[in-house]
Amino acid sequence: MAEQKKLLRALAGEKQHVPPIWMMRQAGRYLPEYRATRAEAGDFLSLCYNSELAAEVTLQPIRRYGFDAAILFADILLVPQALGADLWFVTGEGPRLSTITTDADFAKLGPVSDIHETLNPIYETLKILKRELPAETALIGFAGAPWTVATYMIAGRGTPDQGPAHALKAENRTLFEALLTRITEATIDYLSKQIEAGAEVVKIFDSWAGSLKGEDFQKYALEPCRQITAALKQRHPGIPVIGFPREAGEGYIGFAKATGVDCVAVDNSVTPEWVAEHVQVDGCVQGNLASRHMVTGGQELIDETRHIVKALRGGPHIFNLGHGITPDANPDNVQLMIDTVREG
Ligand code: CP3
Repeated sequence: MAEQKKLLRALAGEKQHVPPIWMMRQAGRYLPEYRATRAEAGDFLSLCYNSELAAEVTLQPIRRYGFDAAILFADILLVPQALGADLWFVTGEGPRLSTITTDADFAKLGPVSDIHETLNPIYETLKILKRELPAETALIGFAGAPWTVATYMIAGRGTPDQGPAHALKAENRTLFEALLTRITEATIDYLSKQIEAGAEVVKIFDSWAGSLKGEDFQKYALEPCRQITAALKQRHPGIPVIGFPREAGEGYIGFAKATGVDCVAVDNSVTPEWVAEHVQVDGCVQGNLASRHMVTGGQELIDETRHIVKALRGGPHIFNLGHGITPDANPDNVQLMIDTVREG
């Protein structure tokens, strides 16, 4: 039964002595087998749209480590591309997109109903995974949150402070809000199709939520997440949603209640004790080992892993990193983390 999967039990609110474990960016450049498959695909985007190979890289960390969940291999920036933005990746630098700074730029975007034409291979990847994953492994779909996706669409690239998106918000709020609405609607349809294709859980990545303060956080991080979650719950009752308003700080408090998500993923700028007291009181939490331990390893990794497991043992918890694993990580350290979590 699906309910027997460790990850789904945690999301349903079950406290477990050994928490389920998976890792953000678990299929990635730190793994030699990932680098080989990526080379076979040609480049990162070709890999995302090649359903067979995307399923293969999703499965690689499951085979190697036996994580409790697999996360679909894709990217949050496929949604802007499906809406008509140009998207490419510059090796060693990151993503580049055509920018949206004027009403005319926005007018060039396509309707939400057209996104599936581009995104169909992603649904195909999920169908393959549904067939091939071990019975005990949960399948996670995902999308970027509207604010985070908008920061890339407005600036045309990643930015350290999301300056261009904040500037557009100040200068042309109508356009800014229209863009967020378009992304919100596309995200609802995209995640809904992912669920129909086999995703058992979905996660909303708001990597830049931390730069929204006060009322802006309520309007542009919390509210879109609430709308997406409500629409998904209506269409697919029983499918759990994980929210990740990264670096939200005090914004993590009450986030689950206000948005309806089943689990709040937390980064490592907050301590697990603080998370237990302020966030886990409302339900399941996910996190929050610093990614650097996957590079440095050793006793510090063991101590910090035990510390997090112990601090969050009083309620439902999914063990994860505070952010994605980095390409310079040592695959042996991932095994050490898993062994430490599972020693019980
Ligand atoms: O977690 C997983 O393993 C699932 C796949 C996944 C990727 N990106 C694959 C990827 C997920 C969930 C994402 C989310 C994502 N993508 C986010 C939100 C989470 C976060 O990390 O904050 C963001 C902001 C992006 C946009 C993005 N994609 C950037 C900024 C970059 C370049 C930075 C980098 O690490 O090179 C990517 C590329 C990317 N997405 C890679 C992977 C495995 C590396 C690409 C490669 O193979 O060269």
